[in-house]
Amino acid sequence: MAEIAASDADVVALLTRQHGDIRNLFDEVERTSGDERRDAFRRLVRLLAVHETAEEEVVRPFTRSNVPGGEQVVEDRLDEEREAKEVLSRLDGMDTDDPKFLTELLALRLDVMAHARAEERYEFIRIRRHADKDRLASMASALKAAEAMAPTHPHPGTESAAKNIALGPLAAVVDRTRDAVRKALGKDG
Ligand SMILES: [Fe+2]
Ligand SMILES: [Fe+2]
Repeated sequence: MAEIAASDADVVALLTRQHGDIRNLFDEVERTSGDERRDAFRRLVRLLAVHETAEEEVVRPFTRSNVPGGEQVVEDRLDEEREAKEVLSRLDGMDTDDPKFLTELLALRLDVMAHARAEERYEFIRIRRHADKDRLASMASALKAAEAMAPTHPHPGTESAAKNIALGPLAAVVDRTRDAVRKALGKDG
């Protein structure tokens, strides 16, 4: 979207840039294999967890209380995120070189990117309209704090296990990242 300036002081620009990073990571997972693919997929899961958690904790409350019709906008986005989480759970325990992996990954990609487009079209544009500069900046800071706190190695302890080991429970990766993000945002527990 041309009107979105790439600025770290603007939560909408930051989230939109992350949507691009997520798309690039899907590309990377698809075109690699073996350890490289495992590593790219791990980074993708981490970014998805950080991104979606930050949206839930920082952006959704703003939309709910400041955007006209915000309740419905939030409900629609939550439905989309639930669908993506279901696909993600199908990838749980699957090795990244499993022949079925790419099929499930593609399903996840379609859900995640459709959701991202809906956010940009129906939510972010309205946030822009209803948040002042300071609010856009303070939400951006919260997002960056969340990203900095999230674990970079989401499943320590399983690294030395069998070479073809699956990533470990994705749900645990997501939970751990979510905990760190909530802590960073001052919402422990
Ligand atoms: Fe989202
Ligand atoms: Fe998003």
